[in-house]
Amino acid sequence: MHHDCCEEIILLTGDLLMPKRGWGGPGTLLLNPAGYPHGPYVSQKGTLLLIHCTSPMPTAYTDFPAGPEICAHYLEMTPLVDHTCTDPWHIRPEKAVWEGMTG
Ligand SMILES: [Fe+2]
Repeated sequence: MHHDCCEEIILLTGDLLMPKRGWGGPGTLLLNPAGYPHGPYVSQKGTLLLIHCTSPMPTAYTDFPAGPEICAHYLEMTPLVDHTCTDPWHIRPEKAVWEGMTG
């Protein structure tokens, strides 16, 4: 989270999963208001991001329950094929895994 600045992220290429938020591909726009907790992130093929922030961006890291496990599930279960859109979190298979781990 960034306490003092807003962050805009545009995915230019690749893939990015953020547990509890969803999956993004090229063209996805993420807006993170100041103080909004976000992450962890995982990418299977790598990603190229364009990031704009409204001031210097110090980062505060916090624990995310089952975050490493959800990221590992994504890397193991997602085929290396092109995906052409954005998936909201509620339709991602990682959601059920996360719910099973966090209860
Ligand atoms: Fe951020």
